[in-house]
Amino acid sequence: MPNLAELFTLALEARTHAYCRYSTFTVGAAIETTDGRIFTGSNIENSSYGLTVCAERVAIFTAVHAGATGIAAIAVTGPDGVFCTPCGACRQVISEFSERDVPVRYALENGTADTTVGELLPFSFGADALAAMRGIG
Ligand code: THU
Repeated sequence: MPNLAELFTLALEARTHAYCRYSTFTVGAAIETTDGRIFTGSNIENSSYGLTVCAERVAIFTAVHAGATGIAAIAVTGPDGVFCTPCGACRQVISEFSERDVPVRYALENGTADTTVGELLPFSFGADALAAMRGIG
């Protein structure tokens, strides 16, 4: 059973590794995978701004590279006192590796709140659409 409190603490720690000299907006993410492992990430910016990678995707891509195939829970935080949820691009990447009921803990101005992957990205595009296209062809 994913422990969201522990994951959020790990996201806070991961935030300290952010490379965010342009925005100064520190983000940390922690994910538990369906095989019970935990991976963390922080945002990594670039002087060519569009090459920046968000904390969530650093954590997820590290997990996938290590052989994980699914996400069981996610926590994300920005700087202290700032509302921070996964951006749109990260929601799509999260969706690729998560069931709709996977819990997501995110940061409020004061405290945290919980939601699910399905609530973050309703009506999503995914592997089913591509499989359906192959079925028609
Ligand atoms: N950022 C994340 O790491 N995750 C998000 O979901 C939102 C945005 C980062 C990207 C950039 O380094 C900084 O926050 C400001 O956009």
